[in-house]
Amino acid sequence: MDANQRKLHFHRVARVYDCTRDTDRSIINYLGGVFSKKTSPQHPVLDLATGTARYPLALASTFGIHFIGVDENASMLAVARRKAKKLKAALAIVQGDCLFLDGTLDAYRPFSFATMFNALHHFSNIPSIAYAIQSQLRPESGRCYFYTRVDNDNAETIWGKYFPGFVEREKHYLEESSFPRSRLMLELCQGGLAVQEWVRFVVLAEHTLDELLEKVRARHFSTFCAYTPDELEDALAVFSDRIQHAFPEARNDPSYRIPYSSPMTLVVCTPR
Ligand SMILES: C[S@@+](CC[C@H](N)C(=O)[O-])C[C@H]1O[C@@H](n2cnc3c(N)ncnc32)[C@H](O)[C@@H]1O
Repeated sequence: MDANQRKLHFHRVARVYDCTRDTDRSIINYLGGVFSKKTSPQHPVLDLATGTARYPLALASTFGIHFIGVDENASMLAVARRKAKKLKAALAIVQGDCLFLDGTLDAYRPFSFATMFNALHHFSNIPSIAYAIQSQLRPESGRCYFYTRVDNDNAETIWGKYFPGFVEREKHYLEESSFPRSRLMLELCQGGLAVQEWVRFVVLAEHTLDELLEKVRARHFSTFCAYTPDELEDALAVFSDRIQHAFPEARNDPSYRIPYSSPMTLVVCTPR
C-alpha cells in the first residue's frame, strides 16, 4: 500500500474504524500505570499515527493522562476530534506526517513519552520513523512504546489461523507477516532508538461469526484490501467453513460468541 492508497484507505474506513476494532484493555491498564501522574497539558504524551485516537482517549478518560495525537489523515482525525469533544478529554490534535515532525511540536518538545499503536507497519522505512521519533524525545530519559506484532504474532491470530492467504498477504511488516524481532531491533537502532524491552500481551476477544465477517467486509485490517472483491468473497466462504468446523457451536447458533486470543507486543525503546 503506497502513501496515496493508505490515505484513501483510512479516509474510507474512518467512520466505521472504531466499530470494527477492539480497543485492548490490558495495554491501556499497563500504560496507564506507566504514565500516571507524569503528564500535564504542557507535558503530554505524544501519540503518533493516532488515527481516531482510540488509545489516547481511553487513557485520557480512564487515567486523566494528557495526550497530543498526530496523524496525516483528516478523516480519521475528524472522528478523533468529535470523540474528544464528547468526552471532554485532554487531547490536542495535529494533522501532519509523523516522518516530518520538526517544528510542528516545538511548543511541547522534548517529550518524556511517545506511543504508536498498530501503525509501525505503515512505515516502510523503520530507521526514518525511529529517527523522527528519537528527535522528539528527552535524550536521557525519553521512552517510546510501539504496540505491534512481532515474529509469529500474526499467524497466531484468528485471521492467521483460519483466513485463507492472510499471513501470506500481510507483508507490511518489513515484507513479513509480523516484524522479525532481530531485524526490527536493528532498524530501530539505525534510526537512533535502542530496544529496552519486549512486553507480551495476549488480547482475549469474543465475536459472533457474523461480526467477524463484518470486520472483513469493512476491511478492518488493510490486509483485506490486498484481495480483489471476488477473492475476498471466496476467502470469506472458506473462513466461515473453517470457523464452523473449529467452533461447532457457531454452526447452529448465530449468537454464539467465538472466543479467540491475539498476541501483541509492546516494544519499549529509548534514544541511543
Ligand atoms: C491502523 S491505523 C492505527 C490508528 C491508531 N493508532 C489505532 O490504533 O487505532 C494507522 C494510522 O496511521 C496513520 N499513518 C500512517 N502513516 C502515517 C504518516 N506517515 N504520518 C502520519 N500518520 C500516518 C494512518 O493515517 C492511520 O490513521
